[in-house]
Amino acid sequence: MTRRAIYPGSFDPPTIGHLDIIERAAEMYDELIVAIGVNSDKAPYLPLDQRLQALADSTAHLPNVKVKSFSGLLVDFAQQENARIILRGLRAISDYEYELRIGLANRKLNPEIETVFLIAKEEFSFLASSVVREVARHGGNYQQFVPAPVEKLIAKRLADSPGS
Ligand code: PNS
Repeated sequence: MTRRAIYPGSFDPPTIGHLDIIERAAEMYDELIVAIGVNSDKAPYLPLDQRLQALADSTAHLPNVKVKSFSGLLVDFAQQENARIILRGLRAISDYEYELRIGLANRKLNPEIETVFLIAKEEFSFLASSVVREVARHGGNYQQFVPAPVEKLIAKRLADSPGS
C-alpha cells in the first residue's frame, strides 16, 4: 500500500519553514502532495499559478513530492487523491488551538482521514507567511525567510507595486 499524505496550506508565500516540513515529511511517506487551498474570498499576496510554480521549483529535489491546488473541502480533496493523512506543522500552542478545531472538524467530515502534526524546528517557530509579507512590505530582509524561487517572485511584486 502506498503511504500518501497531503500537506495543505495557503503558502502565501511559501517559507523555508514550509520547506523544512515538506523535506521531513517526504522522508516519512511514499508520496507527499503539497496542496494549495484556494480561498476565493481573499485576494492572495502571490497569485495561485506563481505559488504552484515556486513550490514545484523549491521541491524539485524531492521526487516523491507533487504540488497541486484544491478548492472546496480539504477532506474531499484528500479522498479524491486517495490520501488518508493530512499533515500540518505546529509551531506553538497558539497554533494547536486552531489546528485542533480544524482537525476535529475534518474528522467529523471524514473519520477515515487522520491528521498528523509535525513539530516545526525551533529556528522556524516564529516564521509565518504573514511575517514574510510584513517584513517585505517594510523593506526588511525577507530573503532569509523564503526559498530562492519565492524570493524572485516577491522582488518582482515589490517592484511592480511598491509599498503593498
Ligand atoms: O496555511 P493555512 O492558511 O493555515 O491553510 C489553511 C487550509 C487551506 C489548510 C484550510 O483553510 C483548509 O483546509 N481549507 C479548505 C476548507 C476546509 O476543508 N476547511 C476545514 C474544515 S472547516
